[in-house]
Amino acid sequence: MATHDASTERSEASTAEALRQSTPGDRPPGPDGLPLAGNTVEFLRDPLAFYDRCRALDDDVVSYRVAWSDGYMFTHPDDIERVLVTDDADFRRASVIRNSLGQIADGGLFLMEGEAWQAHRSALQPSFYRERIETYADMMARFADERADEWEGRDTVTVSEEMRTLTLEILAKTLLDVDVRGRESAIRDAAAAISDRFDVGSVSSLLPLWVPTPANRRCRRAVKEFDDAIADIVTDRRASEGEFDDLLSILLDLDVNGEGLDESEIRDHLFTFLFAGHETTALTLSYAVFLLATHPEKQARLHEELDDVLGDGSAGSAADGPRPTAADLFDVEYLDRVVDEALRLYPPAYTVFREPTRDVEIGGYEIPAGSTISMPQWVVHRDERWYDDPDAFRPERWTDDFRDDLPEYAYFPFGGGPRHCIGMRFALMETKLVLATLAQRFAFEPVTEPPLDLSMQITLQPDDPIEVGVQERSGAPPV
Ligand code: HEM
Repeated sequence: MATHDASTERSEASTAEALRQSTPGDRPPGPDGLPLAGNTVEFLRDPLAFYDRCRALDDDVVSYRVAWSDGYMFTHPDDIERVLVTDDADFRRASVIRNSLGQIADGGLFLMEGEAWQAHRSALQPSFYRERIETYADMMARFADERADEWEGRDTVTVSEEMRTLTLEILAKTLLDVDVRGRESAIRDAAAAISDRFDVGSVSSLLPLWVPTPANRRCRRAVKEFDDAIADIVTDRRASEGEFDDLLSILLDLDVNGEGLDESEIRDHLFTFLFAGHETTALTLSYAVFLLATHPEKQARLHEELDDVLGDGSAGSAADGPRPTAADLFDVEYLDRVVDEALRLYPPAYTVFREPTRDVEIGGYEIPAGSTISMPQWVVHRDERWYDDPDAFRPERWTDDFRDDLPEYAYFPFGGGPRHCIGMRFALMETKLVLATLAQRFAFEPVTEPPLDLSMQITLQPDDPIEVGVQERSGAPPV
């Protein structure tokens, strides 16, 4: 059984760690590289294959050199927990992130550090409390239902595009009380261009944004469009006489040490939330739909559960049929498992980066201050020590016993420790409500076939749009 294997392997891993500790100062093993460029060429050619090659070295700490800087890949849950939780004060956002995203939204929550980060995180947290998020449930299901109305009569949908649009509409409405339906393309397309610019498999991701490459020019144009959309939102809100109680109102009223935020701080926060909040959830939904479409027997089990809990939805949309509610989410165990398994196999945040602010010793190796630490969910989530048949889509694996026995940081799609994803609850509720709404009304059929070609942009993106067939369900009324 997986849990037994996991604990056995874990103690073997500890033994391996003890052995490593007998040779302090050694450099961890790593893939061979070229004399000056190190592993840069190989990394740029296919970053996911490079990660897989590091994984094949079968060590919990692997070293490499990319773009003239030292990198370390940690894949043991204990080491990851140390960096993200136990010793988090010794680590900060890695320069690879500061130098890339920092060119676009330096003052957003994602990149802030120290006391300023603490003050802003505490002030923004109320927008993500459970009670607050539950008030968004009805709207999330309604928007999904309206999108489903548009799918009626169609044979196929490009689910990756559809989900981007939908999650952006939901995010803008819930957090900013802005209805972007019909004019979301500026933000959505800009996000795609920015994401593309930071594809780690492209040389352009290593260059500063001012260098006039085509990708940089596209990205700068996209940032400008994004900025214009944000400026409109802020201007409209300031001109409005209504009473608001949402993330935007918190930002506009935020008082840190007696001072409000200036325009660029508000812009950086909004940029971060709009960007971090819609792409990731859209990807989770797209991968989940793709997995269901390509695993009919799992999809059938989900339909059975949804029909049982919600009714079969065949009566049509909103007005006619019951839409899933926040309360229903307590009764849809299989849906939970589908989402957990989709996030395991295709984690939209495929790695978490950190940089030690002083020399540290981890896993028996000295890791110098300023080096880049990568803790890839992409690798850890597919580690045979924790997951039987790790590449298989098996929602059934997520039993209570399995969860209890899994080392905490063998599964961390939302990161961990004080810097864990502030939007986690929001994202999970949205993913489940949208998936339940859509699956209640449609059966998904495979069009895009596995395996998916993926690229490591800011998030884990499919190379080509994901398409699925959609068949309206005519299921028998629930008994
Ligand atoms: C399935 C969807 C999502 C995934 C997989 C995800 C993943 C993550 C991860 C792994 C981190 C930690 C990064 C690190 O420690 O370096 C993070 C941070 C963050 N996420 Fe998410 N996220 C999702 C949805 C959202 C949503 C919906 C929002 C906002 C509405 C959001 C806003 C943020 C912000 C602002 C941070 C930075 C938090 C801080 O540093 O204090 N995310 N996310």
